[in-house]
Amino acid sequence: MEPKPRSPTQTNIPLTMKAQLLKAYNTRYELHTLETPLLSAASDPHDMLIKVTAASYCHTDHVLASGGMPGLPPRFPHIGCHEFAGEIVALSPASTPDTIKYKVGDRVGVPGRAFHPCGKCFECSSSSSGSSSNSSAFATKEQDPPGYSVYCPHALNLGISSPGGFREYAIVDSRQVALIPEEISDIQASAMMCAGLTIYAALKKCISACRPNSSLDGAKDLYIGIIGCGGGLGHLGLQFAIAMGFKAILGLDNSDGPLRLARHSAGQLATIIEEGTDQDVTLEIIDAREYPSPENLAVSFNAKYVTRYREPPASSNERNEVGLDAVIILPESQKAFDYGVGLLKNHGKCIVVSFPKEGFHLSAQDLVFRDITVMGSLVGSNKLLKEMLDFAARKQVKARIKTFPLEGLNDLVDEYHKAEGGKLVVDMKKKSATSN
Ligand SMILES: NC(=O)c1ccc[n+]([C@@H]2O[C@H](COP(=O)([O-])OP(=O)(O)OC[C@H]3O[C@@H](n4cnc5c(N)ncnc54)[C@H](OP(=O)(O)O)[C@@H]3O)[C@@H](O)[C@H]2O)c1
Ligand SMILES: [Zn+2]
Ligand SMILES: [Zn+2]
Repeated sequence: MEPKPRSPTQTNIPLTMKAQLLKAYNTRYELHTLETPLLSAASDPHDMLIKVTAASYCHTDHVLASGGMPGLPPRFPHIGCHEFAGEIVALSPASTPDTIKYKVGDRVGVPGRAFHPCGKCFECSSSSSGSSSNSSAFATKEQDPPGYSVYCPHALNLGISSPGGFREYAIVDSRQVALIPEEISDIQASAMMCAGLTIYAALKKCISACRPNSSLDGAKDLYIGIIGCGGGLGHLGLQFAIAMGFKAILGLDNSDGPLRLARHSAGQLATIIEEGTDQDVTLEIIDAREYPSPENLAVSFNAKYVTRYREPPASSNERNEVGLDAVIILPESQKAFDYGVGLLKNHGKCIVVSFPKEGFHLSAQDLVFRDITVMGSLVGSNKLLKEMLDFAARKQVKARIKTFPLEGLNDLVDEYHKAEGGKLVVDMKKKSATSN
């Protein structure tokens, strides 16, 4: 291969790198050697080259790889992974201290959104980024400054509409990343870039939707539910919710591994928090298989947490006066959606995070007669990303992680389908025993 001209800061970077390629929907990843993407004088002034150290697998990687996001990826072969971490090894030669506030050697976490936003569209220039749900003062606080928006329709999404983190080197946009706090490893940080940020933002949306003018202290009198609480997002969500100080948290899942994980990780953090503060954590993790409907849960389950249902519950209009203030929907099934909405009290907020191809069926009765609000939540702003990492470091929120070498990405995918819960991460330092 002809050596190509490089900027002086890139002389130590190998000209080739390993990458896992997806060549078609519903196929295995293939390990290939590719040219390393290098920065040039023509690079965007916000661009930085990072050496990827950890690349986390998200359910959306599975959805994309199985053809569940029509039109995406725009072309094959594709490099997946929209949540990763790495060390900065070079800055765009066109950069200035205004375009890049980081230096070579910094550890950064990279969410897929938003690579090269246009800076000019409605989303980038107006005050809409960070929350499309309302224009409250609280929502405004969550936004990025004008010029950058994770909703920019012209931006690329690393790992989804452009190459992502399942490779040794990647060019990222300095506006989309966050410095990783000392207390957090690259592997932990990678798992927080989509899962952590998304669930953190969804929890804050529960607060802003129910208590529009409050900040985190709005959580203290709210009862919330997390449906799918033992999955990648869910087990982090339970921990963030405990640390945010919600009055009561109800987690539901429907399989053994995720339920074990939810009880373990949330229980551990609840103990730490109860010992360190005077907060009394009210947390219940429910096996949805044992309680097939919200009414059934109310009747059978006699914990202090669900006394809001009163006894006898589910009778006539009384059912409408009690229930949760907000629920977050993480599974893709209609059953889970219906369960979540059923747990809400009248005027409750349903925050949808999953996006099944076939969508969800909404009961007009719930919307009209119970005034239920359904709203979506899309990852989170760069401002929230930084806030989330700092919060996770302070409150000891941690993903349960199993690591694999880059060569073992297909093993990771096989493990994902065992549905044990938690996060699966490619650790670039890990050596494989066998290659795939
Ligand atoms: N909005 C955004 O910006 C955004 C960002 C990231 C991810 N997402 C989406 O968020 C969703 C959650 O991601 P994830 O990584 O946490 O997925 P996950 O690990 O598969 O977690 C979902 C959990 O829900 C459980 N579940 C399924 N049906 C249930 C039911 N009826 N009742 C209770 N629990 C049930 C699952 O159990 P089983 O495994 O047994 O089914 C699993 O433990 C995915 O759809 C993903 O695509 C959205
Ligand atoms: Zn994701
Ligand atoms: Zn834009």
